[in-house]
Amino acid sequence: MDQPTAAAAHRSVPAAALLAALLTLATGCAPELGGSFGSPGGAGVRDPYFPRLGNGGYDVTHYALDLDVGPSAERLSGTAVITARATRDLSAFNLDLAGLDVQSVTVEGRPAAVNRAGTELTLRPARAVAAHLREGRTFRTVVRYSGSPLIVKDADGSEEGWLRTDDGAVALGEPTGSMAWFPGNHHPRDKAAYDVRITVPEGRTAVSNGEQVSRRTAAGRTTFHWRTREPMASYLATVAVGRYTVRRTTTGGGLPVVTAVEPSAARASAGALARIPEVLAWGEKRFGPYPFSSAGAIVGRPGDAGYALETQNRPFFPGPPDIDLLVHELAHQWFGDSVTPASWRDMWLNEGFATYAEWLWSEDHGGASAQEHFREAYADEANWAFPASDPPGPEDLSRPPVYGRGAMVVHRIRQVLDDDAAFFGIVRGWLSEHRHGNASTAEFTAYVEEKSGLDLTELWDTWLAGDGRPDMGPDGRGAAPR
Ligand code: TRP
Ligand code: ZN
Repeated sequence: MDQPTAAAAHRSVPAAALLAALLTLATGCAPELGGSFGSPGGAGVRDPYFPRLGNGGYDVTHYALDLDVGPSAERLSGTAVITARATRDLSAFNLDLAGLDVQSVTVEGRPAAVNRAGTELTLRPARAVAAHLREGRTFRTVVRYSGSPLIVKDADGSEEGWLRTDDGAVALGEPTGSMAWFPGNHHPRDKAAYDVRITVPEGRTAVSNGEQVSRRTAAGRTTFHWRTREPMASYLATVAVGRYTVRRTTTGGGLPVVTAVEPSAARASAGALARIPEVLAWGEKRFGPYPFSSAGAIVGRPGDAGYALETQNRPFFPGPPDIDLLVHELAHQWFGDSVTPASWRDMWLNEGFATYAEWLWSEDHGGASAQEHFREAYADEANWAFPASDPPGPEDLSRPPVYGRGAMVVHRIRQVLDDDAAFFGIVRGWLSEHRHGNASTAEFTAYVEEKSGLDLTELWDTWLAGDGRPDMGPDGRGAAPR
């Protein structure tokens, strides 16, 4: 066939345009020739406490974060390569990011338009790229950003995000602080694998979750590469930069244990840290297999943060932990890190079980029994301020009912079953069913009822979700279930 002349090619345009218009009408999409494709993913996944946290329309599978940290850790410049799968056809999608300046964004290698409003970045890729963002397809977004990361103030006044320390910084993310140091889908429902590379001045150490892949020094700068293969919620991601002493050992079972300790805390934390393998072995006996490929701890100074956090693999402690706090944060590796709340309303599943783990540890090591802890918690007015499964607002998420009352709910289940083999079987079954996933309160109560064969409506209505303190009953164990 002859090559068409320019004039002929020109004449064919209206016909092609007509065809495209017809296609658009017929299929709702004409990706190459115009018309709209897909719909915006939207801001937020309707968390009851943080409606704009997380984003719809996609699921991140992997974050590659390349962070360059200046000498005082007050400035950060980063590249985030976010690999995600579209969960529907997308014309645009959002990332959460607080503070920091965005230099450039590409989606599938092409510049994308960016709109910024509060903590929402809306990315609108070029039309030809949007054609790739179909349900089920994986796409790659690259964000280059920099600036002085924010400290995020919680509703309850506590601080998270990028916390500066005397000689570095520590990133802590519960519940919404991780958006202060990398862009992403920051609702705990969207768990992903991570590769984090942190470049610091030579002489500083950078620690993160997972396992260290490499460490290279060139021209006075050291790059640490850490990898997390198991799914991780972003609030559990951390980076700690400082003059940490890093020690590597393994448990008797061969699990790598990496501790990073601020030298001023070395002496006072040595005893507790030496017990990590013992606590993990005890946890495995009670809760089933440890869910991750490494463990450890990061110990900073008391001024670094106002609380400890169960950062994945390697909880962070602002100063030497006592054994109860160590047990609490290591228990979170099962409860919270492996099985992660479906929404922040389900946080009692984290804190109730981590608190109950402290009671169990005490019971198993010659201290007060769980029953004694239960009675003490019952007597504490602070535990009854609101239902464990329904904190009134975000400022209440870390208040006593979520911890102490949550633990009482767990103990009530144990009392009602009156059979430790059955009780621990259900706990292990629950963990194994949702390993590396998310779970809600409704799923938990349904699971316990299904496995026990009991109708526990009364227990949930009074101990978990009711207002005020239920009757302890004549035997002092708690009122009998229906
Ligand atoms: N989850 C932490 C613990 O129990 C405590 C914590 C740290 C926290 N930051 C928070 C709880 C923010 C609620 C909100 O060890
Ligand atoms: Zn906790």
